Amino acid sequence: TRRITVRDITAAKERGEKWPMLTAYDAMTASVFDEAGIPVMLVGDSAGNCHLGYETTVPVTLDEITMLSAAVVRGTSRALVVADLPFGSYQEGPVQALRSATRLVKEAGVGAVKLEGGERSLAQTELLVQSGIPVMSHLGLTPQSVHTMGYRVQGRSEEAAHQLVRDAKAAEAAGAFAVVLELVPAELAAEVTRSLHIPTVGIGAGAGCDAQVLVWTDMLGLTGGRMPRFVKQYADLRGVLGDAAKAFAEDVVGGAFPAAEHSVH
Ligand code: KIV
Ligand code: NA
Repeated sequence: TRRITVRDITAAKERGEKWPMLTAYDAMTASVFDEAGIPVMLVGDSAGNCHLGYETTVPVTLDEITMLSAAVVRGTSRALVVADLPFGSYQEGPVQALRSATRLVKEAGVGAVKLEGGERSLAQTELLVQSGIPVMSHLGLTPQSVHTMGYRVQGRSEEAAHQLVRDAKAAEAAGAFAVVLELVPAELAAEVTRSLHIPTVGIGAGAGCDAQVLVWTDMLGLTGGRMPRFVKQYADLRGVLGDAAKAFAEDVVGGAFPAAEHSVH
C-alpha cells in the first residue's frame, strides 16, 4: 500500500467525499490511527498544549515539531502526514518558510506542511508550493496569534467574513491544497467551502466543510478540563489510564504484583 498524497485529497473533493483528520504527536498513537484508516495525520503545534506541557502553541520550536513528525512518519505507512510550521519558523518571509519546511520534509519525511494565515502568508505559500512542498492553510482562529486575537470565534462581523473569504481565495490561488477553518460560523464555513475547489477542513466550523479535524487528546478524553463545545469525546482515556495506574499502585503496595506468573525462577 502506498501513502495517501495531496492529489488523493484533491480528488476526494471532486467525488464529494468527506474525510477525517486527527492530530498525532508520537509513533504509537499514529500507528493506531493509521491502522484505523485515518487518511491524514496532522503533527499540530497543539503538541505544545497537548504533548509538551506548554500553555499555548507559541513556544513550540521547529526542532520539537521535526522530532515529533519523524516519529509520526515512522509510525504510519498509509496516512499523509502534515506538519505544522511552528510560530517563528515562517513569519520572517518565504525564504525562512522554505528553509523550515525543507527540514520537515527531509529530516522528518512529512508529505506536506501547514501554516497560519491567508493573505498574510501568501508569499510563503507560493514559494513552498513552487518548490514542491504541499501547503495546507489555516484560517479563522489561528492560535499562533493568541496575543493579538485571543481565542474567539472568527468571522462574525461582515468585514471579518469578507476577509476570511479573501484569505481562503488567496490560499487557493497561492497553491494550497486544503484550508483548515477553525472556530468559524457554520454558514460562513459552508460558503467558503462552496467557493473553493480545494477542500476545507473544519474544527468548530460546522458540517458544511469537506473534512473534519480534531485534536486527538480532546477526541479521546485524555486532555482533561473543560472542552470546547465543538469537541465530540469518543472515549475517556484519562479515566482508563488513571484507573489502571491506581490498580497498579495498589497491587504493588499490597503485594499482588508481581505474581508467580510474572516472575522467572
Ligand atoms: O495544531 C493543531 O492541532 C491544529 C488543528 C487544530 C487544526 O492546527
Ligand atoms: Na496548529
